[in-house]
Amino acid sequence: MSTLVVFSSRHGAAKYAAERIAGKLTGDFIIADLDRKKNISPEDFETIIVGGSVYAGRIRSSVSAFVKKHEQILLSRKTGLFIVCMSPPEKVQHYFNDFFGKPLSEQCSVKSIFGGKYDFQKMNFFEKLIIKKISGFNKTVSTIDEELISEFVKKLL
Ligand SMILES: Cc1cc2nc3c(=O)[nH]c(=O)nc-3n(C[C@H](O)[C@H](O)[C@H](O)COP(=O)(O)O)c2cc1C
Repeated sequence: MSTLVVFSSRHGAAKYAAERIAGKLTGDFIIADLDRKKNISPEDFETIIVGGSVYAGRIRSSVSAFVKKHEQILLSRKTGLFIVCMSPPEKVQHYFNDFFGKPLSEQCSVKSIFGGKYDFQKMNFFEKLIIKKISGFNKTVSTIDEELISEFVKKLL
């Protein structure tokens, strides 16, 4: 079974999640950073996994662009959608409709919000300022749930 894993990450948390997913896959796979590799052909794959991180209520723009461009292919394949963010997952389930569109989101049965990471080593001055103000955190914290990543892959296999 051939699988494509595509992601976009600013500070590495969504990249980490994509790599964890890829590491658990059986069969052939390709993992690609949407911000680096532009000419990806998803039609060549039986299973397609798409995910990225959220900033100011939006998923990374290269994820939105990929989904918009390849929506029909995504609808015709086994698809997994994942989101990396710091909002409590139960409060932001609407992110799937918002970021991936209703048709794909509703059709897709394998979708998960894995949690996220505020990485104070990688944030710029303004990001640190904003995050300190809105969250109260002033040092690196991760809520990435490894169990959710394992469950996500199990459902896809
Ligand atoms: C400036 C900034 C804005 C953010 N905005 C949101 C947001 O709107 N919703 C949310 O759930 N998480 C938000 N986050 C948390 C990120 O989604 C989280 O840090 C994520 O793990 C970043 O992933 P990355 O390392 O792959 O870029 C924000 C983080 C930063 C630094």
